[in-house]
Amino acid sequence: MKIAFPVLAALLVLIPACSTPSEKEMDRFVSSLMKDMSIEEKIGQLNLQSAAGFVSAEKVTTEDENRRALESGMLGALYGSFDTKTLREAQEMALKAPHHIPLFFGYDIIHGHQTIFPVPLALSTSWNMDLIEKSARIAAREATAQGINWVFSPMVDIARDPRWGRIVEGSGEDPFLGGEIAKAMVRGYQGEGFEGDSTVMACVKHFALYGAAEAGRDYNTVDMSRQRALNEYLYPYEAAAQAGAASYMSSFNEFEGVPATGNHYLLTELLRDSWGFDGFVVSDATAIKEMQAHGIGDLQEVSATALQAGLDMDMNSNGFVGTLKKSLEEGRAREADIDLACRRILEAKYRLGLFENPFKYFETGRESEVYSPAHKAAAREIAAESQVLLKNNGVLPLRKDARVAVIGPFADAPSEMAGTWSMSSHLRECVSIIDGMRDVSEGSIACAAGSWMFNDPELEETVLYGLYKYFVPGFQVPPIHPRGKQELLCEALAAAAGADVIVACVGEPKNMNGEGASRTTLCLPDAQEELLKALKATGKPVVMVLTTGRPLTLGWEEENMDAILCTWALGTEAGHAIADVLYGDVNPSGKLTTTFPRSLGQVPLYYNHKNTGRPHGDTAPYVKFRSNYIDEINAPLYPFGFGLSYTGFEYGEPVLSSAEIGLGDEFTVSVEVRNTGTRAGKETVQLYIHDIYGSTTRPVKSLRAFRKICLEPGESRKVVFQLSTDDLRYWNAALENVCEPGDFEIMTGPNSRDVKTVLLSVR
Ligand code: BGC
Repeated sequence: MKIAFPVLAALLVLIPACSTPSEKEMDRFVSSLMKDMSIEEKIGQLNLQSAAGFVSAEKVTTEDENRRALESGMLGALYGSFDTKTLREAQEMALKAPHHIPLFFGYDIIHGHQTIFPVPLALSTSWNMDLIEKSARIAAREATAQGINWVFSPMVDIARDPRWGRIVEGSGEDPFLGGEIAKAMVRGYQGEGFEGDSTVMACVKHFALYGAAEAGRDYNTVDMSRQRALNEYLYPYEAAAQAGAASYMSSFNEFEGVPATGNHYLLTELLRDSWGFDGFVVSDATAIKEMQAHGIGDLQEVSATALQAGLDMDMNSNGFVGTLKKSLEEGRAREADIDLACRRILEAKYRLGLFENPFKYFETGRESEVYSPAHKAAAREIAAESQVLLKNNGVLPLRKDARVAVIGPFADAPSEMAGTWSMSSHLRECVSIIDGMRDVSEGSIACAAGSWMFNDPELEETVLYGLYKYFVPGFQVPPIHPRGKQELLCEALAAAAGADVIVACVGEPKNMNGEGASRTTLCLPDAQEELLKALKATGKPVVMVLTTGRPLTLGWEEENMDAILCTWALGTEAGHAIADVLYGDVNPSGKLTTTFPRSLGQVPLYYNHKNTGRPHGDTAPYVKFRSNYIDEINAPLYPFGFGLSYTGFEYGEPVLSSAEIGLGDEFTVSVEVRNTGTRAGKETVQLYIHDIYGSTTRPVKSLRAFRKICLEPGESRKVVFQLSTDDLRYWNAALENVCEPGDFEIMTGPNSRDVKTVLLSVR
């Protein structure tokens, strides 16, 4: 439906017919529009609110408030609804306001819209940039078919502490891999630009360093040097800017004593001045307001601080709309800053093509694509590649005619397969593990829950229903532990009695990770540990299928299970994809992107650590006055980059094109990889560097390249990495990005532990 909006029509005269409007034309258009806007209207553009029906953390907006804001042009965007009728109505109302400025519509599309892909941490373990890009592309197509044009993704926070529940939303602990994934996601969402109607603006979050929250407690303080931030955390955000990300979201945490939302260094000096980002920055939900609790000032003060720091849009705080005009009148905010923020938001709308057609994303005619068979097929392919085989004594793959007992609270739990941030989807329609296996099995399959999630009913209620109790007023909690523990176990043991093999489906419920879901332990929930022990006692082989959103401590499981397949939360097609791997139709190829510790006390534990002055072998026993523990070795249980296959791969020695090079030179590293088994398999070949002596200390290893290849049985391939001394750079103490001449170890291998090394000299 089109509306008559005369002023807009007059302004549109300025837009030429060509579909790629130049920056200059955009400039003219926006300047001309802004000339007529009052200061209130400009501030209104900086206001983002939750769409009606969506309750935000502090329910700051009611439907009526939104309406009033819309009618007076005091709203720049809405988020949190994909109800096209509501969104279209909101757009119609926005266009009736004096300057007829369209809204854009955001949504937390994190790993798929209605077709749900694996949670981001799982996706990252595929190390497959094409598939990751494809998942974002499909998410964008589905979102835009339902009116959404802005997604709050990718989340690129590096996380090294699995206590932090949001580790599930990112790509793990490595900045280089995180950067590659950030670029792939931005490409997937934004495509070549916004000319068509199937791409969305990406929003890179949470800027910055949110993943380094002290003690893994969500929203907690972040304290680190700029040098560390630049070397170890910031690259993925920068890579997203290089890929042309349209927007960023500031994070909840502080950095250098200033909340990120009001941090001039992050939002202006780094993001814009240094990386050249020219889009807009939105706050996280209520993050401006939260600067009061951080101890920075009252709402008026923190709003002015955020604006001046380079924040353009206020999500849910009512700080900008509520106080900026007053601050301007009192000389506590500058009109130029308001103008700049408003301009950036209008430019984003212009680039999306909303001034040309505000209903562009309601007229795509692509509704039938949403949740389509083609999208589900892609979800299955991607989910199959996002699983990590952590142990296998030969029990996997299962024979298709095997008699299998599928036991555990995750065996028949479709909505648990969706993972965190999947509220736009059909949770109950996700394929459960048991259904996926039944589709493939040619033998008998028995199924039993076997145990509660947790022994403690209060904990079970909090974890399973806490989120709904928080968001849905009057939510009725279903009965907790409706069946007795012994009854569940007896049923499971009876199922196991007639089986050749047990598949134990255990893990963390989806609401146990994600936002506001930090933990102080990393073990499996107690009731499920007991179940595993009882299953082990049957003497039958046990394959553990692990649903989780974070690394867990699995020492007992590693010793006692016959196989462990980490399946995270794989989304819509989870059960099919898990069955594909369990029965060997797909050879697993995922590799960890986060270290799995042996015990919680080792945390934070990450592969790219420094050496210390008293290093100690990873597996060496305790020695006094070395950097180690009395009661545990230093090694992780499963290292970064680790993952098994149903075939074997043999690596040759890395070979350099030249052992000595000069600054600025290029060089190659080649390594021969052979499939030594009887099945075709995919393998991610990894390349790490170690700068032996630097002007400041360097990590023992840093990932600098990787390649995922597929080898037939017996096939060998020489993998050649093309590098230059630019790949050996780091941020020195003076915060210069340099390659310091000297010797470097260049390592290649199947994971960060089992590498072979060659020496490179840079002169
Ligand atoms: C989260 C963001 C999210 C926003 C909007 C916040 O609580 O930190 O990741 O995009 O809510 O839903």
